Amino acid sequence: MKRNPFDLTGKNAVITGSSQGLGWGMAKGLAEAGAFVILVDINPKVVEKAEELREQGLQAEAIICDLLDRLKRSELKKTIEKRLEGKLDIIVNNAGIQIRYPALEFPMEDWDKVIELNLTSVFDLAQWAGNLMVKLGKGKIINIASVNSIAAGINTVAYCSAKGAVMQMTKTMANELSSLGINVNCIAPGYMATPINTALVNDEARFAELSQRIPAKRWGQPQDMAGAVVYLASDASDYVCGVMLPVDGGYLSR
Ligand SMILES: NC(=O)c1ccc[n+]([C@@H]2O[C@H](COP(=O)([O-])OP(=O)(O)OC[C@H]3O[C@@H](n4cnc5c(N)ncnc54)[C@H](O)[C@@H]3O)[C@@H](O)[C@H]2O)c1
Repeated sequence: MKRNPFDLTGKNAVITGSSQGLGWGMAKGLAEAGAFVILVDINPKVVEKAEELREQGLQAEAIICDLLDRLKRSELKKTIEKRLEGKLDIIVNNAGIQIRYPALEFPMEDWDKVIELNLTSVFDLAQWAGNLMVKLGKGKIINIASVNSIAAGINTVAYCSAKGAVMQMTKTMANELSSLGINVNCIAPGYMATPINTALVNDEARFAELSQRIPAKRWGQPQDMAGAVVYLASDASDYVCGVMLPVDGGYLSR
């Protein structure tokens, strides 16, 4: 029988920021495609979310970790390496925060926070994963960028700066790692109905303005991310290197 190239059976995956929102949608998609998924999040409810997957007969575990803390990130890496005996096949760097202020008033401590989580922790974990994957001769690193990697927002200077950099980091790492069997790609979600966007959804005028620009005429949902992440995590994308795949209802095409 012909093998399904999207099948993730036997693959170990780590996904950060997966207690809710897009991370949860992707964790579910990866587990449903057959992967053993380790969900990482600062929010303790991640433990229940892993349990929810196991109740559906899927393979999942949870680790609570504050990815803003470099020491905690070090411990996380050691724990995962031990748990997977070094066999990390897929990492999805998804955890992210949004802090909104006009650029001229943006507090430096909030700038540092956004850059540390949305950019530095992504590189830290991608570098670590890459080193493990080199030993396996294969691996998939998937970073979560944003339509804001290309089209910037308003009052979101730190977030847009980090997301632009995530796209370039992805391409640079792909240039260096593709010949080693490691695919480094990123996904650019558009406007998705998750808690990170509560402020936008509550701003009637901005919500209408953004919605009007989405060709699909709806905001995305966490499950809209599943197909893209499974594709980039699977053998089906072995010759796909350094791309930014928009999952945005057509937003970037306007
Ligand atoms: N929702 C959108 O419209 C949209 C658009 C483009 C990109 N994104 C990106 O997608 C990713 C997920 O966003 P979302 O919409 O699901 O947001 P969300 O706020 O619903 O989820 C973010 C997750 O990250 C976790 N997290 C936050 N700080 C953390 C920390 N210090 N350590 C560990 N985990 C932490 C949260 O607990 C949460 O589970 C983010 O990188 C975001 O920038 C979202």
